[in-house]
Amino acid sequence: MDNMFIRTLQNKDHSRPPVWYMRQAGRILPSYNELRKQYSFRELMTTPELAAKVTLLPVEDLGVDAAIIFSDILTIPTAMGMEIEWTDKGPVFHNPLIDAPNPHKSLSPNSDKLSFVYKAIELVKQQSDTPLLGFCGAPLTTLFYMLQGTSLKHEFPEARKFIYQNKKETELLIDAVTEFSIEYANQQISRGVDAFQLFDTHAGLMPLDIYKDMFIPAVRRIADAVRSKGIPFIFFPKGLGAGLNLVTPDLCDFVSIDWQTSLSQARQLVHPQVGLQGNIDPMLLFAPKEEIISCMEKNYKPFFADNPGWILNLGHGVMPNTPFQNIKYLTDWIKATNWI
Ligand code: CP3
Repeated sequence: MDNMFIRTLQNKDHSRPPVWYMRQAGRILPSYNELRKQYSFRELMTTPELAAKVTLLPVEDLGVDAAIIFSDILTIPTAMGMEIEWTDKGPVFHNPLIDAPNPHKSLSPNSDKLSFVYKAIELVKQQSDTPLLGFCGAPLTTLFYMLQGTSLKHEFPEARKFIYQNKKETELLIDAVTEFSIEYANQQISRGVDAFQLFDTHAGLMPLDIYKDMFIPAVRRIADAVRSKGIPFIFFPKGLGAGLNLVTPDLCDFVSIDWQTSLSQARQLVHPQVGLQGNIDPMLLFAPKEEIISCMEKNYKPFFADNPGWILNLGHGVMPNTPFQNIKYLTDWIKATNWI
């Protein structure tokens, strides 16, 4: 596939950074919000024709260089037997694993329960030449939700307590989630995804030493499975900070940098052979258009000049209610600007 996003992942030449946005497929697109009046989030995600349509909306409406399959990181726990409810305040598992007498034995992984995702990938590949990202949640972030059932103001105090109180059980759970994530990734790859991103949104909520010892090996197992199929692997360990020095070429091809860490700091910490993605603050998109562009001119253009192995993206998912005209304006600017 000859496309700017793929060429950048392969470290081949490119004239501008490719662009896509985390959480681009929902929330901010007027066309998505129209569909949401008719269908629930669950219906959109689990009906392959609708999921394929939503996946391609940002390609059509914004002109991004890559699509990401419209799904969620919490499909894994549901396919392992946990019941989820999508409420207005976010996802809730009513039977969190911290309440189960024997957590890992209560799980019953069944990859067939994710066939709606596989079918949606097939449909997107039939309908479009745009590179398609597959994804799943990393074991830590996925387990936080499974253990605690929901986030408490983006924190996971009960899940964190459990990890300290039940180290052996936690290891068994990490293993189960990792095994199933590998199966899920393999199925996505066999249906045609062109790259794969692992979301570790809450990586920064564990001490670095514990993250390194208990969770990075699990990330590496998923990465190895994906990369052994020739598919580029992007890792998003949000909040890792100085721990970015753990990111080496044996772990991933690209690392997505959060908005707290500057790209130049990240470039110094991350191994030089690993490419960078990110890290525009999603809140910048609420600023007046001139300020958005002046931030690009001041920070991002010079960065690209020195570091062509970079995929332009946000430092976390796009915020609800982000003005559509601002993200459209930025995307048009990125594609029209002379970067070199
Ligand atoms: O990037 C994309 O556009 C593709 C689809 C995608 C969704 N969720 C769709 C979604 C992806 C890649 C995700 C990842 C995800 N899901 C993460 C990791 C990335 C991140 O942003 O931190 C996490 C932690 C989740 C779990 C999740 N899903 C939460 C906490 C919520 C509720 C709050 C919120 O973010 O809206 C969701 C719901 C969700 N997932 C929506 C979408 C489009 C909103 C559903 C709606 O009301 O339309």
